[in-house]
Amino acid sequence: MASYYSPQPKFYYYYSSLIILCLSTLLFRINSQPAPRNISLGSSLTAGAASKDYWLSPSGEFAFGFQQVAGSSANGFLLAIWYNKIAQKTIVWSANRNELVSSGSTVKLTKDGSLMLADPSGRQIWGPNGVGAGVSYGALFDTGNFVLANRNAAVLWGSFDQPTDTILPTQIVKRGTELISKYSSTNYSTGRFKFTLQNDGNLVAYTTFYPQTGSNFPYWAGNIAGNSVNFNKSGYRVMFNQSGLVYLMAKNETVLSYPLGTDGESTQDFFQRATMDFDGVFRKYLYPKSNTSSGGSGWAMRWNTQAIQPPNICTSVRGLFGGGACGVNSYCHMESGREENAASPSCKCPPRYVFMDPSDESKGCMKNFASHDCRAESNGSGDDQFDIMEIPSTNWPDFFYDQLESQTEGMCRQACLSDCLCDVAIFFGGFCWKKRMPLTNGRMEEGASVKALIKVGRSNSSSLAYPRKKDESSLKLTGGLLIGSSVFLNLLLLSTTLLFFSWWRRNNKRGQLHPTSSVNLLSFSYSQLESATGGFKEVLGRGASATVYKGILQNVGETITIAVKKMDKLWGVEEGEDDNREFTTEVKVIAGTNHKNLVKLVGVCSEGKNHLLVYEYMSNGSLASLLFKADPRPNWYTRAQIAISVARGLVYLHEECSTQIIHCDIKPQNILLDESLTAKISDFGLAKLLKVEQTRTMTAIRGTKGYVAPEWFRNMAITTKVDVYSFGVVLLELVCCRRGFEMEGYEEEEMVLVDWAHECYGDRMVGRLVEKDEEAMKDLVKVERFVKIGLWCVQEDPCLRPEMKKVVHMLEGAVEVSVPPSPASYINTV
Ligand SMILES: *[C@@H]1O[C@H](CO)[C@@H](O)[C@H](O)[C@H]1NC(C)=O
Ligand SMILES: *[C@@H]1O[C@H](CO)[C@@H](O)[C@H](O)[C@H]1NC(C)=O
Ligand SMILES: *[C@@H]1O[C@H](CO)[C@@H](O)[C@H](O)[C@H]1NC(C)=O
Repeated sequence: MASYYSPQPKFYYYYSSLIILCLSTLLFRINSQPAPRNISLGSSLTAGAASKDYWLSPSGEFAFGFQQVAGSSANGFLLAIWYNKIAQKTIVWSANRNELVSSGSTVKLTKDGSLMLADPSGRQIWGPNGVGAGVSYGALFDTGNFVLANRNAAVLWGSFDQPTDTILPTQIVKRGTELISKYSSTNYSTGRFKFTLQNDGNLVAYTTFYPQTGSNFPYWAGNIAGNSVNFNKSGYRVMFNQSGLVYLMAKNETVLSYPLGTDGESTQDFFQRATMDFDGVFRKYLYPKSNTSSGGSGWAMRWNTQAIQPPNICTSVRGLFGGGACGVNSYCHMESGREENAASPSCKCPPRYVFMDPSDESKGCMKNFASHDCRAESNGSGDDQFDIMEIPSTNWPDFFYDQLESQTEGMCRQACLSDCLCDVAIFFGGFCWKKRMPLTNGRMEEGASVKALIKVGRSNSSSLAYPRKKDESSLKLTGGLLIGSSVFLNLLLLSTTLLFFSWWRRNNKRGQLHPTSSVNLLSFSYSQLESATGGFKEVLGRGASATVYKGILQNVGETITIAVKKMDKLWGVEEGEDDNREFTTEVKVIAGTNHKNLVKLVGVCSEGKNHLLVYEYMSNGSLASLLFKADPRPNWYTRAQIAISVARGLVYLHEECSTQIIHCDIKPQNILLDESLTAKISDFGLAKLLKVEQTRTMTAIRGTKGYVAPEWFRNMAITTKVDVYSFGVVLLELVCCRRGFEMEGYEEEEMVLVDWAHECYGDRMVGRLVEKDEEAMKDLVKVERFVKIGLWCVQEDPCLRPEMKKVVHMLEGAVEVSVPPSPASYINTV
C-alpha cells in the first residue's frame, strides 16, 4: 500500500491512501471522455477581465486562460493551463513564462485559424509553433491538452507538444523535448534545470547555462543509449499513462525503464503530474480527486524514493560551471523527512555569511564581514581578527589551492587562519585542503565525517555560536546507524566528495553524457597508498589483473582499514584502447553506484601507469573462504540471507542504477562479507563492464570457469542474463555449501553440482543436497524452492532465465516458482 509523505506541511500533506481509495470508489467516475466544447474561430479571452474568463475542459478539471502570477510586480499574467478543480489552480503549462503580459492582453483564436497572445497594444507575444494550415476550432481536453484541430477533428497542434516543466497522464514526450524548470517556487520563468529526452535517446537531467537554457552539466540519466545490453533499445519516447506510470519506451514499444518507479495510481482516483521542479528534482505528484471540495490539503509526493529523481540533488549536481544545486558559497542540504530521499533540498549560508539576495537564495552567499586582507598581514596574524567555525559534514568538493597531509584538525584550523588566502579548509582523514572563494557545489551530507572549517571575521556578539539544534536531532538519527559499524563504515556510509580537480576535469569533457551523480570519491596519491599499505605488504586477494592489499589510513585518534586494489596490467590493452580513459570510465560507473549489497569504492589513485582503487574493507573476507574453507560454515539462515542480498545487489546493477551494469564475474570470490555478514558484491563493472562494441568483437571470455554462461562461447550477445547464470551456480553452492565442481569426496554423478542438483530435484530428493546440514534438512520446502530457482537461473537459453528482480521475488517467497525445464546441454559447454 502506498503511503505519502509531507516534508513541508504547508504544501504537502500526509494521509492514508487506504481511506482515499475507499472513498473514491463511492464517487462517480467518468469512464469515457466527453468531447470538449469547440472553441470556434474568432473566440478570445482577456487577461484581468472582470468575469471569470477561461475555457474549460468538459469535466471542468482543466482550464485554459490567464492566470495572474502571485507576487509579480506589474500585474503579470501567464497564458496557462491549470488544474481548475483544486484550490491551488496548479499551472501545468504556460505560453509566455519569460514575458508576462499585463491586464488587457488577449489570447485569440483568429478567424484565419491562428492562436495568438497579444499585449494590450496588439503586439504578438506568443503563438504556437508548427501549426499547419486549416485550423477550424480549438478545444481543451480533459487530459489537459489544448489542441487546434481541423474540420476533420485531426489535431494540428497541442500544448502537449510544447511542454513547459510538467507532463500529464496520456502525454507523450518525444525525442528532442525539454522540460525546463521554473526559476523558483513562485516565479514561472525558465530556471536552472532541465529534463530532456535527447535526440540520441538518452533521458537526462542537466543544469542549464542560466539564463540561457542550453545544457550545462548532466546530473542524472534514466538510461544510457548504447548501454551494454542492446544498442537498439535506446529511448524513443517517454509516456505517462493512465495507470500513473512514467516510462521510457524504445521505438518498438518495449519499455526500457521507469524513471519514476514502477508504482502507479489510477488517473480515475488521482490528479497527477510529473514536474521538473525549480530545485532540479523531477517528481511525481498526486492529488486525490475525492479531496478537492473539502479544501484538500494539496499535492502529495509519491513516497517512494524512485518517484523523485535524483534522490539527492545536493550530491548529484557537480558541474565545473555554476554554483551547484545551490549558488556559490552556499551549501545544499537535503532536509530529512521520514525518508531522506523523499526530502527537499535547501540552500544554506555558512555562519556569518548571508544570502546575496535574500529573496533569491539560489544566487548564493557572501561574507558578512571584512575579508582577510593580505596587505594587512603585518598588522597581526589572522588569529586576532578571525575565527574558524566548523560546519559539520559539509564540503565544497572542487578547487583547492593547497593540500596538507597528516594534519590534526587543530593544525588544519591554524593553517587556514594564518593564511590570508584561505577562506575555508576542508578537513578529512588527516588531510587539509585550503580553498578560496567562490566555493562551488557545496553540500552537507548528514553523518559524513568530512568537515568544513570556515574562516569568519571575529565578532564580539555571542551569536557566533553556530546553531546546532537541528543537527543534533539528525545526528541522533545517523548515530543509530553508526553504532555497531566500524569507523570505516561511518566514513563510507555518508562519505565525502573530494575528487582531485584535474582528474575530474580530464574525464569530464563537456557535452558528454556522464551522469556525475554520487561521484563521492577521494583522490589519493600513490605514495599515500604505498604507505597506507606498508609498501603493499598484506595481500587480501589476487585476481587476473589486480592484487588487493590491506591498508590502514591513520587519522587523528582513529585508524581506518581499507582494501587497496592495485592493477598490475593495463586495461583495455587487448582492445587497443587508452588505458587511462578505460580506467576512469570504469571508475565513474562504479562510483555512480550506491547500494548496501555492493562494496563501496571510496577513492582512486591514478598516477601515470599506476591505477589503484580504494574500497571499504570487509572484515569477513569472501564468500568463497566462508563457504568452502572455514569451519564452521555459515548456517542455513545466513546462507539464505546472503543469497537474497547478492540477488538484490544484482537487481540494482541491472535495473536501478543509471547505467546498466553487467557484472560478468559473479562468483563466491567476488562476494564479500562485512562484520555482520552482509553480502556485498565486489569487482563490479571493473574491466568487465561491457561496451556495446565489445559484445560482438570480444573473443576472450570474461568470467570464471564454472560460473560463465554458455552464450560466452557462442558469439551471442552478452546480456544481464550472464549474471543470472552465474548467480544460479552461486545459489546452488550456497544451498549445498560446496563448489560447483568438486572431485574429491564425491561420486561421479555428484561432481558437477548443477547436474547433481537437477538429478536430486528430478528424483524429488533435494534433501540429498543438504544431507549433513541439520537446519536445512528441517527447512526442505525452502531448500527446494532455492534449488528450483537455481535451476531456472542456469538454463542454457538466456531467455528462459528469469530477471534478477524476479529471482529476488522468488527467493523471498513472494511469487511461486514453477518447475524448471530439464537441463539441456549446458554441462558440455562449461
Ligand atoms: C523571475 O526571476 C527572474 C530571474 O531572477 C527575474 O528576472 C524575473 O523578473 C522574475 N519574475 C518575476 C515575475 O518575479
Ligand atoms: C467540433 O467541431 C468538429 C469539426 O467541425 C465537429 O466534428 C465536432 O462534432 C464538434 N464538436 C462539438 C462538441 O461541437
Ligand atoms: C500503463 O503502463 C503499464 C506498464 O507498461 C501497463 O502495465 C499498464 O497497463 C498501462 N496502463 C494503461 C491504462 O494503459
